[in-house]
Amino acid sequence: MNTFGQALRVTTFGESHGVGIGGVIDGLPAGIPMDMDFIYKEMQRRAGGQNLYSTQRKEADRVEILSGVFEGKTTGTPLGFFIQNSANKSKDYDSIKNLFRPGHADFTYFQKYGVRDYRGGGRSSARESAVRVAAGAIAKLLLSHFNIKIQSGILSIGKILGKDIDFKNAQKSEIFALDKNVESQQKEAINNARNAHNSIGGVALVRASGIPAGLGEPLYYKLDSAIGALMLGLNGVKAVEIGEGTESTHLLGSENNDQMDKKGFQSNHCGGILGGISTGNEILIKVHFKPTPSIFLPQYTQDINGNVLECNIKGRHDPCIAVRGSVVCEAQLALILADMLLLNATSKLEYLQKIYASKK
Ligand SMILES: Cc1cc2nc3c(=O)[nH]c(=O)nc-3n(C[C@H](O)[C@H](O)[C@H](O)COP(=O)(O)O)c2cc1C
Repeated sequence: MNTFGQALRVTTFGESHGVGIGGVIDGLPAGIPMDMDFIYKEMQRRAGGQNLYSTQRKEADRVEILSGVFEGKTTGTPLGFFIQNSANKSKDYDSIKNLFRPGHADFTYFQKYGVRDYRGGGRSSARESAVRVAAGAIAKLLLSHFNIKIQSGILSIGKILGKDIDFKNAQKSEIFALDKNVESQQKEAINNARNAHNSIGGVALVRASGIPAGLGEPLYYKLDSAIGALMLGLNGVKAVEIGEGTESTHLLGSENNDQMDKKGFQSNHCGGILGGISTGNEILIKVHFKPTPSIFLPQYTQDINGNVLECNIKGRHDPCIAVRGSVVCEAQLALILADMLLLNATSKLEYLQKIYASKK
């Protein structure tokens, strides 16, 4: 399944070493100015090849709009876009052509489809996540009209946890570290893993602010379940937490509840979502990434004929997927919130009256 969303439906296509990747966004309102510089900047935040903390694969990642935009604004028709693949080196994958890389999706894709697209992992590669970032940038352009802001950064790398959260630090940090006090330790942990031909896991924190109360579609498209589904659909994501998350299982009700006063909620343990609907407070999401499966240590595996072999992986890989993954999670939260905003436009009679009364 390659489509997500209800009112704002996004379909993505393409694989790591094909001609290119792209998407179709259906449901965008007409009249949104397309800021191509903004989209380019968002793409560059996710792109690899910028420092030693990410893959050395460097793609131009220029987004070409194919449809749905006229004279610089959306037309309300499906917005199609394309991103060329230019930096693929399929030769790097010759040695693992018939092998299943441990921890990667090679084995399961082969069991399901019977096809072994060994070139960079095909669609199970993170290349597809560039499409999510492009679509997310367009969703952000819509959300900017409602002063909704989404930010992200790295909370932890391995066991090194940031506590002093500063999204401004994440913007200037090479690893998007949220806590400058542990940034050098976190970088060292990634360097140590890379120098040992290994990889390391991490956790991204995503925050949305300026959210109106009332977004979310209980019961089967609750705001938290939609966020969870999209985040877990990203390659390498193993867990998603909302607000206090799993920590709330260690708390008493009196510690976890967000009490109210005249101004509203006194705390935000729930992470801005109750009953699957936004409270109006900041939405706080933690996304847990496993260590990159492609490591440069000898490992045992099977080939497509069931023979056990030693597998030696080559190529360009992220030493820690959480780093670039954090930018993708931010884009995904933008997509979900844009979808929920559109869905909510019909949740009350008065909303409909406001739209149609003005036409009298
Ligand atoms: C931003 C990002 C970058 C990634 N980079 C790599 C990489 O360089 N090498 C690799 O083997 N896997 C990488 N992955 C992870 C694989 O795509 C993923 O582990 C694989 O598809 C198996 O899926 P699963 O981990 O969800 O089971 C990356 C994932 C993301 C989101």
